[in-house]
Amino acid sequence: GDLVRPFAAGIDGASGGVDPAGVVSERRLSDLRGLFRDAAALERAVGEGDEVVYRVVAAPVPEVEGEVPFSVTTIEAGRVGDEFYMTRGHAHPEPQGEVYFGLSGRGVLLMYDGEEVRWVEIRPGVAGYIPPGWAHRTANVGGEPFRFLAVYPGSAGHDYAIVAEGGMGARVVRSAAGYEVVEEPGG
Ligand code: F6R
Ligand code: ZN
Repeated sequence: GDLVRPFAAGIDGASGGVDPAGVVSERRLSDLRGLFRDAAALERAVGEGDEVVYRVVAAPVPEVEGEVPFSVTTIEAGRVGDEFYMTRGHAHPEPQGEVYFGLSGRGVLLMYDGEEVRWVEIRPGVAGYIPPGWAHRTANVGGEPFRFLAVYPGSAGHDYAIVAEGGMGARVVRSAAGYEVVEEPGG
């Protein structure tokens, strides 16, 4: 098919906007059932307004081989029980790497290759590298929205079932120090 023409996009780290934008998607608490440890706390929060946990604004680049799609994710501040608001998490079934770049707030990029858990903290000015084959999820560990830019190969694809069924091997939870990443089989 036709490749995209050259363009520049505005990336607004204060709002999470991308201009021009392509697809915008929102995930609410009810879209994250089964992912948090405290299912009862999740259901209470769904009943209390089912707020948006995160939003992804993509640039108008198609997910096809050769293209390099990019998008900005905004995760709101909040927790379900002791666990920080987070993305669903996925792996790229065509094992290909991805780069995240922090824009605002503070988050944890959690990665899991099925055996080993690794994580890095993402802040404005920090790039996190996700190697091919590692499932990934981000959590907002701060008190304000956490925003980052993601850049990945257009042919990578997205496998959500692998995380929904197998977990990430760890959870990002509140602690006296602010947060900690707790390894947990199936977590
Ligand atoms: C793309 C990527 C990010 C996420 C976004 C939302 O490969 O890793 O753009 O898609 O942060 O997370 P998920 O897709 O897990 O709901
Ligand atoms: Zn990804």
